[in-house]
Amino acid sequence: MEHPYWPILDLRISAPPLELRPMNEADQAVIAELLPDDVELNPAATRYDVANERNSRGIVVHQGYWKAYGTWRPEEWRLSFVVLTDGEPIGVQELEGNDFVRLRTVDTSSFLVPAGRGRGHGKRMRQAVLSLAFGPLEAQAAITSAWHDNHASLGVSRSLGYRPNGEMLDRRDDGVDVMVHLRLTRESWIASQQSAGITVSGFEPCRPLFGLVTPG
Ligand SMILES: CC(C)(COP(=O)(O)OP(=O)(O)OC[C@H]1O[C@@H](n2cnc3c(N)ncnc32)[C@H](O)[C@@H]1OP(=O)(O)O)[C@@H](O)C(=O)NCCC(=O)NCCS
Repeated sequence: MEHPYWPILDLRISAPPLELRPMNEADQAVIAELLPDDVELNPAATRYDVANERNSRGIVVHQGYWKAYGTWRPEEWRLSFVVLTDGEPIGVQELEGNDFVRLRTVDTSSFLVPAGRGRGHGKRMRQAVLSLAFGPLEAQAAITSAWHDNHASLGVSRSLGYRPNGEMLDRRDDGVDVMVHLRLTRESWIASQQSAGITVSGFEPCRPLFGLVTPG
């Protein structure tokens, strides 16, 4: 174990042709650099008086990273994975749990660099974190949300077996728009056998950080 104090950093998910590893400090500038302009950032994030919008978005990336690990607790965690092909980062896949031990529900969000899109990678990286969620984390359900016109994100969810879970109006920029919610159950996931060929390693030492007891 390379990180006995923060074993999260030793987690790995192999989902050929993709590899996923938790984000680390050294990734921050790299991810800020490749963050596509169409990726919506947390609207509640603090913005500073920085002239260059890319720099401003990069600050949000950095503070989001520090916040996620700095405020981590079993009741509220957010785990960001860097997605790699041939050792090169092509995007980020997040997995999130709120009151997870009780609710056994995870949420996800992600992005890929434009050149990496439309090749099934969006599906594969979601399958990767769902294999962690429905595997060792023993989730009962996964939820996700996207704007009604985010066809790629909704396409990933629908093709993985998520079912409609309602729609809501939400603030979007200066206006209001329809947010579509979807849900995938443990039963559907297991029946679909989508974790075939995906390997999660390094999980056991992370159990206490998720508030999960060690079996036996
Ligand atoms: C969302 C995102 C990660 C999806 O990755 P992707 O590699 O483009 O998607 P995939 O190639 O895996 O396609 C997944 C499914 O969606 C469908 N799809 C993809 N783009 C689509 C589009 N523009 N319109 C309709 N369907 C689309 C695919 O056909 C596929 O379904 P299928 O297997 O049933 O044919 C990527 O598009 C992205 O980074 N978008 C910008 C950031 C973002 O919006 N993130 C989501 C918000 S949290």
